[in-house]
Amino acid sequence: MFDHPDFDHHEKILEVDDPDTGLKAIIAIHSTAMGPAAGGCRLWTYDSFGDARRDALRLSRGMSYKNAMADLPLGGGKAVILGPVHSEDRTALFRAFGRAVDSLGGHYITAEDVGVGVADMQIVATQTRFVSGLASGAGGVGGDPSPFTARGVRVGIEAAVRTRLGRENLTGVRVAVQGLGGVGGHLCQELHERGARLIVADINPDRVALMQSRYQADIAAVDTILCQDADVIAPCALGGAISENVAARLKAPIVAGGANNQLLTSKAGEILADRDILYAPDYVINGGGIIMVSGEYLGGQTLDGVLAQVDAIGPRLEGIFAAAKRDGRTTQDVVDVMARAKLTAARQIKIQKAELV
Ligand code: NAI
Repeated sequence: MFDHPDFDHHEKILEVDDPDTGLKAIIAIHSTAMGPAAGGCRLWTYDSFGDARRDALRLSRGMSYKNAMADLPLGGGKAVILGPVHSEDRTALFRAFGRAVDSLGGHYITAEDVGVGVADMQIVATQTRFVSGLASGAGGVGGDPSPFTARGVRVGIEAAVRTRLGRENLTGVRVAVQGLGGVGGHLCQELHERGARLIVADINPDRVALMQSRYQADIAAVDTILCQDADVIAPCALGGAISENVAARLKAPIVAGGANNQLLTSKAGEILADRDILYAPDYVINGGGIIMVSGEYLGGQTLDGVLAQVDAIGPRLEGIFAAAKRDGRTTQDVVDVMARAKLTAARQIKIQKAELV
């Protein structure tokens, strides 16, 4: 583990193998410097255990950076459950996952991610209180985080369109959306309501048909969606969509979407910048969901307060775009440096407090 290329001094990694329920999962806690590690649980069928471990390491570090950049009092963690999971095993398996989360004593707080829904988190909640993304009560803070993520992505797209294209609204702006699940589907709605024109692709034809009928979206093939002749490319499926090869072939002047870990390599980010393609760093633009999760879990927030925090993603991105332009750096580099500085400062305060006790 210590030699793994994606190991970044993660504080704790729990590998779970529960023969009674078939649960195989990895919970990675990257940092608790800013607070308990929060991040969703992904259910995915990986090609190998190594791929799952890599995902958990990368995604949990991304959560530390994301939570730091959103100024949340939360650290970063992530869980991955190795699929496939048969529907008849699902309840027992998520109960076992809840017990694994509980065993960490509140150092990790879970919620939904790819392949996991509110119903799953409600099962988890029967075994642990360290869970969020449950059905929302009065006031509307809670439940599925993906509409909040999509709102933040839409606000981020508006900021990128203002910066790169000098356009004040989304009327007639062409956006190619890859992945039409919770985030991508709600994003299509947000964009359609503001007059954007949609081009969509998903490996699930039912999702594509739904977006076409609801929002009159044009359809692209899964392997050509990223290279569409559009104003904005919005990756909203899995990570690594922007490889160096894709970065070199992109036609759109903006990449701004909801997926985690969109850049396959940092070189891909450099290619985008060299080609004057504006990239909205993923863990800033997709922070809306965790902002809501934080409001639900920590309590004391109104829906309007949470939405105002989500909408602050726009001006935050505009500051990042301006800093990158001023300093001749990639937008990814700008946010990585900012996030690391925030984590280092929080870690030092935590050490000082521990020494005082
Ligand atoms: P989801 O599971 O609801 O949707 C993912 C969609 O992508 C599915 O419709 C799937 O068929 C499609 N897909 C998978 N591979 C594809 C491919 N190669 N080409 C086209 N479509 C493909 O997941 P969700 O929640 O919408 O998450 C999407 C992305 O956003 C993930 O990277 C996730 O980590 C990230 N994210 C999600 C948040 C949330 O609030 N749910 C918060 C922040 C990030």
